[in-house]
Amino acid sequence: MPDTALEAAANQVMTCRATGQAPVVRTFFDLPTFTATHVVHDPATRACAIIDSVMDYDPASGRTDHAMAQDIVDYVTAEKLRVEWLLETHVHADHLSAAPWLQKRLGGRLGIGHAILKVQDIFGKLFNAGTRFARDGSQFDALFDDGARFTLGALPVTVLHVPGHTPADMAYVIGEAAFIGDTLFMPDYGTARADFPGGDARMLYHSIRRLLALPAETRVFLCHDYKAPGRDAFAWETTIGAERDNNVHVHDGVDENAFVQMRTARDATLSLPNLIMPSVQVNMRGGHLPEPEDNGVSYIKIPLSRS
Ligand SMILES: [Fe+2]
Repeated sequence: MPDTALEAAANQVMTCRATGQAPVVRTFFDLPTFTATHVVHDPATRACAIIDSVMDYDPASGRTDHAMAQDIVDYVTAEKLRVEWLLETHVHADHLSAAPWLQKRLGGRLGIGHAILKVQDIFGKLFNAGTRFARDGSQFDALFDDGARFTLGALPVTVLHVPGHTPADMAYVIGEAAFIGDTLFMPDYGTARADFPGGDARMLYHSIRRLLALPAETRVFLCHDYKAPGRDAFAWETTIGAERDNNVHVHDGVDENAFVQMRTARDATLSLPNLIMPSVQVNMRGGHLPEPEDNGVSYIKIPLSRS
């Protein structure tokens, strides 16, 4: 069966390259969580999207802070950008989203993949979130399916569902650039883990091969960088061609079984991210803190000794 969503994304990249329709990307890197937040805009209209924002969080005190998000507000204001979208590539397990805080100050609609419903179901049960936690995606303004299309100013956008790291991962292809969340990392670092609840290494392989079928020239922006051994600087931009040639986990020639074996073995050695408990409970609510208890305070739960 032809992959019409992927074909649409590939055609979009080729057309935008031919016509010079390129987004301007400014990246804000959050050192504590190694997260790259991309502020993407159409230079013709100043329409902008903020992808995978970060709210600072101190786990010892439970305090949240918005220094990182304020930098983005300052940038958007100085550049006279008009925020149309706040996009999440997935429900992150390693940082808290600042999307609602940014939305309040800058406007825009909050979007994520439709499979968020599956993630809300998994984590709603895991954290015994109760009936006040709606598991219908209603915390978001838009739930995208594979192949969804919209525009950012004059730039075309095609959304691809790329599950595996989590069930709801999406890649946003904006003009000739792809924002691929946690699928591939820089070629020298490899790929995202696939061992979170609902994750699947085999599914991740298929999603990655799909992304690698985009034109080689496609600019690729990542959600994280951890500096590969021997590399001194953080990096978050590469190309599909560079990933196909050099990705240490999944370059051309690595077959599905070899990838799954490698990924599964590697995941077994990884510890959970420091902020997984608060991140998941906040991000499954679209970046909102859990409903306050009768004293007006929100709490993060930790399931103890869960088998
Ligand atoms: Fe992630």
